[in-house]
Amino acid sequence: MVTNRTFTMIKPDAVKAGHIGAILNMINGAGFKIIAMKYTKLSPEMAGKFYEVHKERPFYGELVEFMSSGPIVAAILEKENAVADFRKLIGATNPAEAEPGTIRAKYAKSLGENAVHGADSDENAMIEGNFHFAGTEMFD
Ligand code: RTP
Ligand code: MG
Repeated sequence: MVTNRTFTMIKPDAVKAGHIGAILNMINGAGFKIIAMKYTKLSPEMAGKFYEVHKERPFYGELVEFMSSGPIVAAILEKENAVADFRKLIGATNPAEAEPGTIRAKYAKSLGENAVHGADSDENAMIEGNFHFAGTEMFD
């Protein structure tokens, strides 16, 4: 199993606010290598499928609507300890609780509109990466 890759999305709020460049700069500056990347938009069906684990949560409908509301940047990133290190770089889900200097502390608007996604396990990183990219779109 791949243990040195994670999957991320720059969410519609951060794209709309013009933060793609600044966020990619922080990702590169933290030592992550880009294995795959695309600028795309999720349909409500795709967003629903991607966040299916949260189906029973009260915020699911809002989350699906938000994630399909505008373009996103999806990417597979590589680094030693990628999943945990990336979660550290993005900060807590709620930007009010995110460590200063983290991506969410700097660029997230709210708990719901929080600028970036980061996979929460090696297994999910692989599932999520394969959901968005074909093998021919990945480069090491
Ligand atoms: P993500 O999956 O997007 O990286 O975020 P996370 O692991 O930090 O948080 P998770 O619990 O997986 O929640 C997924 C996304 O759902 C939205 N959310 N809204 N309104 C709410 O109470 C609420 N709670 C979560 C956020 O966009 C969160 O990132
Ligand atoms: Mg999550």
